[in-house]
Amino acid sequence: MIETILLKKRPVGEPTLDNFEFEKETDTPAPSEGELLLETKYVSVDPYIRGRMSAAKSYVAPYEVGQPLSSGVVAKVLVSKNDNFEEGEFVSGLLEWKSQQVNNGEGLQKVSEDKAPLSAYLGIVGMTGLTAFLGLHEIGKPKKGETLVVSGAAGAVGSVVGQIGKILGLNVIGIAGSDEKTEMLTSEFGFDHAINYKTTEDMKAAIEEAAPNGVDIYFDNVGGPISDAVLYSINRFARIIICGAISVYNKTETPKGLAVQPFLVKNSALMQGFIVSNYAEKFPEAINQLASWLQDGKLKYKETIVEGFENTPQAFLDLMNGKNKGKMIVKA
Ligand SMILES: NC(=O)c1ccc[n+]([C@@H]2O[C@H](COP(=O)([O-])OP(=O)(O)OC[C@H]3O[C@@H](n4cnc5c(N)ncnc54)[C@H](OP(=O)(O)O)[C@@H]3O)[C@@H](O)[C@H]2O)c1
Repeated sequence: MIETILLKKRPVGEPTLDNFEFEKETDTPAPSEGELLLETKYVSVDPYIRGRMSAAKSYVAPYEVGQPLSSGVVAKVLVSKNDNFEEGEFVSGLLEWKSQQVNNGEGLQKVSEDKAPLSAYLGIVGMTGLTAFLGLHEIGKPKKGETLVVSGAAGAVGSVVGQIGKILGLNVIGIAGSDEKTEMLTSEFGFDHAINYKTTEDMKAAIEEAAPNGVDIYFDNVGGPISDAVLYSINRFARIIICGAISVYNKTETPKGLAVQPFLVKNSALMQGFIVSNYAEKFPEAINQLASWLQDGKLKYKETIVEGFENTPQAFLDLMNGKNKGKMIVKA
């Protein structure tokens, strides 16, 4: 039985299970010459999926209604009619949400369990690790002794950003949505301070208290009021990496917030949008560094693994609601 998860209708506001539908086929697809039959092993669920469920123009094309969704997937080669791949090998790439699928192999990377657990290629040694490393280095330009604030700090990207900050000798403050998460940031990941934005009434005051010398780098995963509060503490020549804005992804109207210009002008600060795919030429170098830190035990990673391919939509909804710690992944 081959299962496919399709976009049933575009969400307005918060997505629900009604936005997805399942299709089941009994016939196994047959690869033609040059093609592969792949079996899905791990599926990455990510906040950008919410953007692609909408019709709005963005840096990646929207999903089509009635068509399969797609994201980062690790799959096993069941049948190979392509000379570049052998049966039994594992690959990682942007693939459709199907339990089995035919693919021509273009854009797929071979991955091996010998180097890292297969799920890690969707996280720490995959897209989210690269996002953390390259966003922090390319825009943040960190210098020892500086203060780094990270929002979405207990998630896949944020938890890695903060740890890299510690490796580089920064003072690191994380912002996350539960006491369990803030405790994890300081005790497991070595953050210097962590703030629970859900129970803190005055975020501006909490950030000022945690960063008495001001904020040099803000790695922004969430946008909205949390990010507005950080702006009051930025230092001269601060760098603000706009990696994501999950707090506004479900908004149906253009969100209103602080006018950022006076904060940037007053502090000669830089605020720049970041998209990891713009830095593809730096991926090999970044992966080498992440893998080496992992091997040396300097970097840790956490995964929230949901069992069952059929639970992929629910895993995505749970991610959007903060039910994950570290990288949210579905084990098919
Ligand atoms: N630009 C790029 O190239 C790129 C690449 C990858 C990811 N991203 C962005 O980076 C961010 C993190 O992605 P990720 O994959 O690492 O996801 P993640 O942080 O593992 O998961 C999303 C987290 O967002 C938090 N969240 C949900 N609603 C929120 C709200 N209203 N306010 C504050 N926090 C909220 C939740 O944690 P809490 O419990 O703390 O609320 C949830 O766990 C996202 O914005 C994503 O779009 C960008």
